[in-house]
Amino acid sequence: MRFRVEPMRIEHIPVVAEIERRSFTQPWPSNAYRKEIQTNRTAHYFVARRVDDELDQQPSPEPGQTVSDGRAPHAGAEENGSDHGILGKLSRLFRGPAEGSPPLEAELLSIAGFAGLWLMTDEAHITTIAVDPIYRGRGIGELLLLGLIDRAKQIGARWLTLEVRMSNRVAQRLYQKYTFKEMGIRRRYYSDNGEDAQVMWTDPIDSERFREALRQHREVLARKLGHHD
Ligand SMILES: CC(C)(COP(=O)(O)OP(=O)(O)OC[C@H]1O[C@@H](n2cnc3c(N)ncnc32)[C@H](O)[C@@H]1OP(=O)(O)O)[C@@H](O)C(=O)NCCC(=O)NCCS
Repeated sequence: MRFRVEPMRIEHIPVVAEIERRSFTQPWPSNAYRKEIQTNRTAHYFVARRVDDELDQQPSPEPGQTVSDGRAPHAGAEENGSDHGILGKLSRLFRGPAEGSPPLEAELLSIAGFAGLWLMTDEAHITTIAVDPIYRGRGIGELLLLGLIDRAKQIGARWLTLEVRMSNRVAQRLYQKYTFKEMGIRRRYYSDNGEDAQVMWTDPIDSERFREALRQHREVLARKLGHHD
């Protein structure tokens, strides 16, 4: 199964919003993504998409599967008892032509995650990153992070930074691979449960340590994802 990172478009937002609801206890509303894409000049958003022909062999959620960052499943995932995930919702959105799949439908069905950043002077602030629970643990979060790092370099950032929940060890481990370190704490940053945020920063993007981490992990990931360029 191959994946590609590409710019997020308005048409992607219904799927992005669904992954958002499945991933965060305080999801952004869909119109936040619309605004980010249409009006925020500092914003850069991406989706990770499957690019093979295996759309009819989508992985199904394991029974009792939970969100891997330890967050409570969002209300939308629980409301229909047996959670058929994004595919069920999409099929409702796209009930229509009986024959063939319109290209947009196939494109939307192939979205596995998304991520974004804001460039503020020479700092790239990662605003979000999420992978649909059924696709987690396969390297897609890391692929998205690499996409953000590549864009940050292109647009002249010197560091990357982000906030992450103190309890979100999965995300912290992902960031640590790319030299992110805890540099501060924002007390009671998350209003849903009053949790603190760790503020993490990378080494300078042009430092030897950062470049080496990038080179090593990119290679390993390419092998894991079967991307042999
Ligand atoms: C964080 C998230 C994006 C990771 O995506 P993913 O596709 O599952 O992660 P990957 O498969 O690319 O794994 C990359 C690294 O993350 C860490 N990681 C992933 N799953 C992990 C797990 N279950 N336990 C511990 N570390 C884990 C590891 O460091 C892993 O690298 P490794 O394979 O060399 O061990 C995903 O868990 C997610 O969407 N979580 C909910 C939203 C969220 O918390 N976003 C971050 C907000 S700050």
